[in-house]
Amino acid sequence: MNNAVAGFSKLSKKEKINWIANEYFSTPEEALNIIRNYWNTDEKLQQLHDEFIENTITNLYIPLGVAPNFMINGKYKTIPMAIEESSVVAAASKSAKYWATRGGFKATVIDTEKIGQVHFTFNGDAEKLNAFFNKIKPKFFSDTQNITKNMQQRGGGILDIYLKDKRDLLDNYFQLHATFETKDSMGANFINSCLEQFATTLKDEAQNANLEIEVIMSILSNYVPNCIVRAEVSCPIEDLTEKHIPNPRDFAERFVQAVQIAEVEPFRAVTHNKGIMNGVDAVVLATGNDFRAVEAGVHAYASKNGQYASLSHAKIENGIFTFWLEIPLALGTVGGLTSLHPLVKLCLEILQKPSAKELMEIVAVAGLAQNFAALRSLTTTGIQEGHMKMHLNNIINQFEANEEERHLIKTHFKKTAISHNAVVEFIENLRK
Ligand code: MEV
Repeated sequence: MNNAVAGFSKLSKKEKINWIANEYFSTPEEALNIIRNYWNTDEKLQQLHDEFIENTITNLYIPLGVAPNFMINGKYKTIPMAIEESSVVAAASKSAKYWATRGGFKATVIDTEKIGQVHFTFNGDAEKLNAFFNKIKPKFFSDTQNITKNMQQRGGGILDIYLKDKRDLLDNYFQLHATFETKDSMGANFINSCLEQFATTLKDEAQNANLEIEVIMSILSNYVPNCIVRAEVSCPIEDLTEKHIPNPRDFAERFVQAVQIAEVEPFRAVTHNKGIMNGVDAVVLATGNDFRAVEAGVHAYASKNGQYASLSHAKIENGIFTFWLEIPLALGTVGGLTSLHPLVKLCLEILQKPSAKELMEIVAVAGLAQNFAALRSLTTTGIQEGHMKMHLNNIINQFEANEEERHLIKTHFKKTAISHNAVVEFIENLRK
């Protein structure tokens, strides 16, 4: 069979799924059934989802859960999280409850600047280019007036534009480096439209001034080191009571050491930050934001000092335990999926229609809560206890256990350590 196909995007949805089913499955009808099972019965709703991307064949469900009891800056929030990993929502809820009685989470947006660049080459006198740039700079603003008008009314717009000489990196390489405020929108379309206009203005003006400029590309940067939010928890160390550790100071010190390891050791830092992103991505996805952009920007930020390091930090000072993180987050609560996807709208309503800044705070808190839950387990009972408890359901489902088997399995593993093998063995014995 030749698995290549011409004009696939032009086929109807029915033709597409038939092609997939016949091309890749020995029992095409079974494949078609699975695909169709995940279609929404509401045709209009299905069409909305079909049109988000090209070549949609069906929907891939990811559970949408909520973690309640998050006290953030003195107010309770219920945080929606879209994630497939068994233990994440449970861990978030546990951290939320833990900190709600210890002063809650404090979160602050430090800055909200976004960045975009026009990359171009210029082979000539850099001083001449500099003078040219300063002369035409106002034109970048005036030529983008029709794009920036609405954003300006909302208090945003282009903040500044700089000419950057990058010839130490590549021959003849220069940039227009622009900064933006995009208020409640993530701003990708706005920024890219401005940048493409800057590029046109640059080319036209260069031609008038007889300068040889070649624009290579214009695009926003997902690295936003000046779009930063800080989330924090703190309490007197004697409040850090733990079932398995009699002295709270021991727990606090172990916890701080665990963070310090992630601050200096990249192998640990990556996993440590992955735990933070369990919380961050789940909320970013539930609120219809671009988790790939957030991931790329956050990990670049984790390397800002030349070595990949922990995004969170912890200290004990004057008997007070403090645990915090600072991360870059370019998020929106208007535009994009936020007004299109009914579940995204619902999630934003659960969050009481936050501004982009408030959403930054909520997302950072979710990341910190997740990190706290992971480190708390890792430095006390180990991670597998909680993980396996949640994973038990997955194993039960994998074996399609009936109600009675479910009950017996759950009762047995309340008292016995859970491992994949132990559960499989138990199920096989039950079925003998
Ligand atoms: C698992 O999804 C996340 C953890 O590995 C994070 C960590 O090690 O800190 C538990």
